[in-house]
Order: sequence, then C-alpha cells, then structure tokens
Amino acid sequence: MCSRFCVAGSVRGEETTGMDTKQLEALMVSEPALEPLVLPLTQMILLPSTEKLLEIAKGGDGYHGRRLQAGRQRDALQRERPEGCWCLGVGGKETRSLATGVEVFDTYCPCPDGQKLQGEHKGLRSKAKYEKEAADIWACWQKAEIPALYQGFRLSEHPIGKTDKALVARLQSPPSGLADNDAEWERLVTPWMGSWYFWGPVGIGKTGLAVSYAREYVIFYGGDFSILYRSVPDLLTELRSTYGRHEGESEADVLAKYRKVELLILDELGVESDSGSGWLQDRLYQVIGGRHADNMPTIFTSNLSIAQLSKKLGERIAWRVVEMCGQEHIIEVKGPNLRDKGPAKPKAKDVRGSL
Ligand SMILES: Nc1ncnc2c1ncn2[C@@H]1O[C@H](COP(=O)(O)OP(=O)(O)OP(=O)(O)O)[C@@H](O)[C@H]1O
Ligand SMILES: [Mg+2]
Ligand SMILES: [Zn+2]
Repeated sequence: MCSRFCVAGSVRGEETTGMDTKQLEALMVSEPALEPLVLPLTQMILLPSTEKLLEIAKGGDGYHGRRLQAGRQRDALQRERPEGCWCLGVGGKETRSLATGVEVFDTYCPCPDGQKLQGEHKGLRSKAKYEKEAADIWACWQKAEIPALYQGFRLSEHPIGKTDKALVARLQSPPSGLADNDAEWERLVTPWMGSWYFWGPVGIGKTGLAVSYAREYVIFYGGDFSILYRSVPDLLTELRSTYGRHEGESEADVLAKYRKVELLILDELGVESDSGSGWLQDRLYQVIGGRHADNMPTIFTSNLSIAQLSKKLGERIAWRVVEMCGQEHIIEVKGPNLRDKGPAKPKAKDVRGSL
C-alpha cells in the first residue's frame, strides 16, 4: 500500500471522508486523475465525500478546488526550494515588531533566503539598540547643563591636538570592546577613568578639554548615568540663592545634588574673589570632600597649580583633589592662548567675535 496514501487514508481520510483506506485505494485505481493530488490532499483538505473528490479531480472552482489550486502552487514552490527549506522563500515565521516598527521574524529558515534575512534583521535589531543608546546619550548630555558654546566640542577637534597629541590620545575613550577580561579592562580602561585636574593659563582650552572628555565618557557608558557641569562661581551663587528662601531647593539639596551626580565638571576652581572666606571653603569642602569620600569622578579645571590652589583654598581641599585625581591625572595644559590668535592673522577678529 502506498505509504503517502496510507497516511491520508487511515488517519485523515477515514475520519473526514467516511471512506476507509481500502475504499480510497480503490478510488485511486479507478480514478488515476486523483493520483498526483494525493500529496496536496493529505496536507490540506478535509474530504467530505467521494463525489467531492471527483469534483476536485476534475478541477472545480469551488472551495475545495481553490484550495487544491493553492496546494498545487505551494507544492510547485516547495519543489524549487533548496534542501531543508520550510519557509517557501518567505525567510522565517512568527513576526514581531521592533520598537522602530520594523517587523522581524522570531524563527528563521535555514535556507539562503532565511539566512540572508536573519543577517539583515540582526543589523536592524542592533540599529534599534544603537538608536536607543544614542537617544540616552543625548538625553544625558541635555541634562548636563553644559554651556551652549561648549556643548558641541569634541576631543578630536580640540585645537590642543595640534600641540599636544599625546594628551588628546590619553583622554580619548579606550577601545573597551577589546577588554573581555578584568586584566584587560584594568590595563585599557582604568588609566582613563576617574578624576582629572586640568590647569593652566587663561584661554588655553581647559574647559573645552573637560567637556570633550565628559563627552567621551557619556558615549563610553552609553548615556545611562548623570552628569553635571558647573563653574565654581555659579555653584556658589546657587548656594547663596537658597538663603532666606522657603521654597525650592534648600542649601542641603544643592549640596546633595553635587555630591551625588555621577560625573561632575567643576570648572574654574580657585577664581572666586573671596576664596579666603571660611564660608566658601566650607561649602567647597562639602562638595569636594563628599565626592572624595564616595570616590565619585570629578573633572576640575583651574588657573592654579595644586600648590597655588592649596594657598588659595586651603590644604584640606587641595589634598582631596590630589587624592582624587592622582599625580597621573593632574595635567598642566600647555600651548598658545586659543582666544588670542594675534593681530597678524586677518581672521582673528572674526573668531573672537563669534565667541
Ligand atoms: N574641543 C574644542 N573644539 C573646538 N574648539 C575648542 C575646543 N576646546 C576649546 N576650543 C577653543 O578654544 C577656546 C578656549 O578654550 P577654553 O574656553 O576651553 O579655554 P579655558 O582654558 O577654559 O579658558 P579660561 O581659563 O578662560 O576658562 C574656545 O573658546 C574655543 O574657541
Ligand atoms: Mg574655562
Ligand atoms: Zn526557507
């Protein structure tokens, strides 16, 4: 007995056609036209009666006839598909939508079409991930309160790259993808992370360096953390503004904000006119000492060397800064005054004008 036929006859046929295997077999013999239809029939059709079978064999255009046609087309398609393909060229099954609205499959066919599609969809999935990351980074950057002038600064475009390439290279985020174990991470990432102290004369590019480094930092961590920029004079103004006020942030709230933010850029440390005052030193100590105690990365810029800072703000603060940054991260920035391009260059005025 034909095995394909047995499947149809004994399991499906008997239940649905009312014919047993023998009768179906006899029908095949008496109606040879039915023979090529056996496979599609077994796959898809509930056979209501012998009459119906005969109608199908003649190629009727009723319900069964149409399904038979569809079955034939599908079988023809299947015959042309490569070995092992079950997708009929679609690529896979069980679609679902990515956040971007693009549909991808859950299961891919092993045929070349399925494999090609899987490659493309993998790209889309990682693109969706990348887009989310980019949005996170952008949101993180927007909340950092970086002055508009500096927001777009990039390390790769920092003018100091012309005079101190090595410094720019040190500040560039390491290729963390290569660090697949702790030792590698230690070697590649640790020297780059942590707190920094950039000091040097006016206009040399310190704030630009601090912001550009922070940008590398945000991109490196994928934006999933908090960052805040503040110049020390603005920080002090903010603290003073909380006095005698009954609404909004209290002094304690403001101090807590600077202690807790995951990356703080503290610009222009030591420029305050009344740096000798106990009040100012106390508040600065609360922020810097707090961050030191919690080991929170902080980027300082200053016109002062550590020795000068120590004289101006006291040893307590200066030594916290040294301990946070370590000698390796205390950087004397050298080079020309970037704002003073000299009178000989015709464009100097325009450049200054745009600042
Ligand atoms: N990443 C950068 N990309 C392009 N230009 C930059 C970058 N960083 C700095 N500059 C240029 O250098 C100028 C001076 O830089 P910056 O303001 O950082 O100096 P500074 O040392 O912080 O000065 P100050 O001591 O007055 O605060 C900027 O106004 C800008 O024109
Ligand atoms: Mg500056
Ligand atoms: Zn396939």
